[in-house]
Amino acid sequence: MSDLPDPDILLDVALTIAREAGELLARGREGTVAAESTKSSPTDVVTALDRASEALVARRLGELRPGDGLLGEEGADSASSTGVRWIVDPLDGTVNYLYRLPNWAVSIAAEVNGEVIAGVVHAPALGGAGTTFTATRGGGALRDGSVLTGSTETELSRALVATGFGYTVARRTAQVAVLTRVVPRVRDIRRMGAASLDLCAAAEGVLDAYYERGLKPWDHAAGALVAAEAGLRVGGLLGRRAGEDLVVAAPPALFGPLTDLLAEDPRADRD
Ligand code: IPD
Ligand code: CA
Ligand code: CA
Repeated sequence: MSDLPDPDILLDVALTIAREAGELLARGREGTVAAESTKSSPTDVVTALDRASEALVARRLGELRPGDGLLGEEGADSASSTGVRWIVDPLDGTVNYLYRLPNWAVSIAAEVNGEVIAGVVHAPALGGAGTTFTATRGGGALRDGSVLTGSTETELSRALVATGFGYTVARRTAQVAVLTRVVPRVRDIRRMGAASLDLCAAAEGVLDAYYERGLKPWDHAAGALVAAEAGLRVGGLLGRRAGEDLVVAAPPALFGPLTDLLAEDPRADRD
């Protein structure tokens, strides 16, 4: 195995490719976008643009980083001979994209030895000319070059909390049951439709915290690094790492109370 690369070099690659994929998606959005097929349920749509974006990312990674591994939502899966694996959501927020809502993004993370060390969440339709969140492990989090610091809220009752819902009826039913416990205990809830951008919004402090169950690595890999580098505590259920069970990003003082609330009856949120 060769020497592991500098996170800044990986970030540059991620940024270059995320911008190219973002341009493809933005151009694609000027035409008609249709749900081409469905995945886990009738509401879990995939468009031709999800697939075209992933194909572009895979091709460009092959050119710029031959030998690196890849895990992509739309099926790209290759082993790494360099120690670097890319984790890619080629279009996070597909339903927003379909409906012309601006909260959608290309999410690209670089993982080395199981740790994400660089990540980009690029949202071409957000904030007029587009918005790009970046982070490297130990190097801080940025929005379009400006340093991000998350909320320092200490009271759960004053927290604005974002969450999301999966696509299957069973998971949604369980998620709503959990939500009924959360809503009375927080300032309010937001559901914006792209997990990567929810994590970046928490990093930016325009939300206090975010949680969601059922996320896949491509939904949270880059955004979770942005949130952690902005000073938030990021983790999972019962002291575990962030994962499919649960992803929480919250100010240190809120992390415990929020995860305790979410864990009150873990069986209630299983599908
Ligand atoms: C979805 C979005 C959504 C979240 C779902 C994800 P997709 O990703 O991030 O906000 O609630 O859990 O699956 O399907 O738009 O890539
Ligand atoms: Ca996603
Ligand atoms: Ca996606």
